[in-house]
Amino acid sequence: MKYLDELLGKHESLAWRGDLHVPVSGIEFDSRRVGRGSCYVAIKGLQQDGVAFVGAAVANGASAVVSVHPPPSEPLPVTWVQVKNDRRALSAMASRFYDDPSRRLQVTGVTGTNGKTTTVALIQALLEGEARTAAIGTLGMNFAGTVRPTKLTTPEAPELFSFMAAALQAGCVHLAMEVSSASLSLHRVDDIAFSQAVFTSFSGDHLDFHGTMENYLEAKLSLFRRLGSDHWAIVNNDDPTGTRVIRELNCRYVTYGFSEQADIRPLKHVFSMDGVRAVLQTPRGKVEFQSRLLGRFNLLNIMAAVSSALVKGVSAERIAAALAGFVPVKGRAHVAHAGDFLVVVDYAHTDDALENLLRAFREIARGRLILVFGAGGSRDKSKRPRMAQVACRHADLVVVTSDNPRQEDPQAIIADITAGFAPGFTAFRTEPDRRAAIALALGLATAGDVVLIAGKGHENYQIFKDRTVHFDDFEVVREVMGERDA
Ligand SMILES: Nc1ncnc2c1ncn2[C@@H]1O[C@H](COP(=O)(O)OP(=O)(O)OP(=O)(O)O)[C@@H](O)[C@H]1O
Ligand SMILES: [Mg+2]
Repeated sequence: MKYLDELLGKHESLAWRGDLHVPVSGIEFDSRRVGRGSCYVAIKGLQQDGVAFVGAAVANGASAVVSVHPPPSEPLPVTWVQVKNDRRALSAMASRFYDDPSRRLQVTGVTGTNGKTTTVALIQALLEGEARTAAIGTLGMNFAGTVRPTKLTTPEAPELFSFMAAALQAGCVHLAMEVSSASLSLHRVDDIAFSQAVFTSFSGDHLDFHGTMENYLEAKLSLFRRLGSDHWAIVNNDDPTGTRVIRELNCRYVTYGFSEQADIRPLKHVFSMDGVRAVLQTPRGKVEFQSRLLGRFNLLNIMAAVSSALVKGVSAERIAAALAGFVPVKGRAHVAHAGDFLVVVDYAHTDDALENLLRAFREIARGRLILVFGAGGSRDKSKRPRMAQVACRHADLVVVTSDNPRQEDPQAIIADITAGFAPGFTAFRTEPDRRAAIALALGLATAGDVVLIAGKGHENYQIFKDRTVHFDDFEVVREVMGERDA
């Protein structure tokens, strides 16, 4: 049994009322999840202040309330602790509640605008041959084939630490996790003892949350500043921001990329419709492999994961074997149909990702590149014209459609995108119905073409103002191709 006073750090409480030595059965930030004996950490969020739900938490049996607000003057049935920073307290208390599980795991954090999901999956696959490895990210939290779904790429601290405790119980030694910039800004990963951090890429995204590119970068840099002298950073040298990351380091580091200066770089590489074959030069000798992952950006993700594994002492043979067996992550440069022409579903939802995707397939397509894409509603609007510019510069034919329109009018989002096309660009159609848009693109495709369906990747839903419907790009491709062949 844990007690409130041991879970609270020495410096975290400003004031309190009630008994600090009360037993705590769990740490919750959602009053609806509070049970008998939980400590309710009332987070003052951007939209809501959790303090409004203290009554509900107490009714559900909370033994304590932690909040940035001072204890109220009226009599209270529970202990109330005022803290300086509610999110820091949530993270610190959750970590202590589960006996600081991250200190008993070797944790690799992967951050960057794009490439986190594939890189984490690759690191997990490369380390798994050495010792059981858990992973956390957009696709959920998993180890040994069991998956806990998550809503966020990097979940809230109580979920993270509870999962780590379970991973330890199951014998995991390593953990690879996606670290979103939001999770860094919101102190979700403050108490995670990272021994490695990987920087994949940096470009404009989430500006609705961070405000400026500088704030967004600052959030990412904070993961690297905290690494100590016995830790490792793994940095993409091709990304101009990589040098900025390196300047912040107090730890050892390895760089990867296509440039001559990179510690880990390809000596030879061949991209094809079947994947990539390459020989990497590394400080530990050559690593020769083939992989089913498609496109140039995936070779960067592979190099990131190989760097991480080499630093951990995994042998070149083991790395090559794991890469050969690696199955592409759902919805990341994922072939949905291969026939006369290739149909690929990809999660690219930023201008940078879209550009990488188009450039990568330009290298392997014999025919035209037909792109189907939209932009999410109620999110960073600044990327719409940038995505449009990338589309008209790199695709031969574009079908502009809906992504997740959320609270916005789908036609208005499409208009924001088409307004971003270069003057005189006419090789596009608009079709707000994503199913019809995919059918349109597949109908236009001829032998040798590649149809890229971007934006939703693994998602199996589409979110509109008034409803969320089942929608899966893969299913739609299969249905449309089926009707065509029938
Ligand atoms: N190393 C990379 N550099 C640039 N673009 C990439 C890279 N890897 C993948 N991409 C592109 O970005 C898309 C998203 O990749 P991925 O899902 O790995 O990103 P993420 O960092 O996990 O994003 P999220 O923040 O949504 O979790 C891919 O579908 C692909 O188009
Ligand atoms: Mg991800």
